Amino acid sequence: MDPKKVERAYSTYAAVYDHIFGRIFHESREAAVRRLRINRGERILEVGVGTGISLPLYPSDCRVVAIDLSAGMLEKARGRMLKYQLMHVELMRMDASQMEFEDDSFDTVMAAYVVTAVSDYRKVVTEMIRVCRPGGRIIMLNHFSNGNKFIAACEKAISPLCQHLGFRTDLSLNHVLEGTSLLVAKSEKVNPMRFWHFVECVNGKNGAAPPS
Ligand SMILES: C[S@@+](CC[C@H](N)C(=O)[O-])C[C@H]1O[C@@H](n2cnc3c(N)ncnc32)[C@H](O)[C@@H]1O
Repeated sequence: MDPKKVERAYSTYAAVYDHIFGRIFHESREAAVRRLRINRGERILEVGVGTGISLPLYPSDCRVVAIDLSAGMLEKARGRMLKYQLMHVELMRMDASQMEFEDDSFDTVMAAYVVTAVSDYRKVVTEMIRVCRPGGRIIMLNHFSNGNKFIAACEKAISPLCQHLGFRTDLSLNHVLEGTSLLVAKSEKVNPMRFWHFVECVNGKNGAAPPS
């Protein structure tokens, strides 16, 4: 997917995004943030924050930086920040495949419905690992291609069409993790219809091990 097309697609969706994807995905967003048990002062990066629908879910005693490529989506997120007075959140327009943050800037990096919506998931995952501290958490909430051969074939067949709409359906979790330092700590199917996955990884870079 071409990044300019992705940006254009999501800026076009911005006006209707919450009506379509807000409710469908919200239970899993809430469950994901709840599962994190965020600590006071924790530094969180939300990649591909979209209209900022998850932002009110974060506790006000942590620090959230949220980025997105799409100006249209960020405008909606800004409106939401003002509405909910989210003083602990900072919004930035930034390409997740080339982030401007220093190495190890965050304790937790969250990507909700993002790795299949970016033009180069490898670059984005590499950047998420770089900006997260060793031993920090990298969370992906996403649909990943199914292990069932028939369903996987269907997902592969419809993926080119979906890519015109700004996302792909043929990406497996194994492909995302391949060659990275990520260690899966939890992987659970979540609603709607248990078709999506909550995947919590420990950033194993520099030999960091999961907490015992
Ligand atoms: C399916 S939406 C998910 C939005 C939000 N996380 C949610 O839970 O609804 C994918 C988002 O990723 C953003 N995106 C796509 N490519 C990106 C990139 N390279 N850098 C930053 N954001 C990107 C899109 O603009 C869009 O807002």
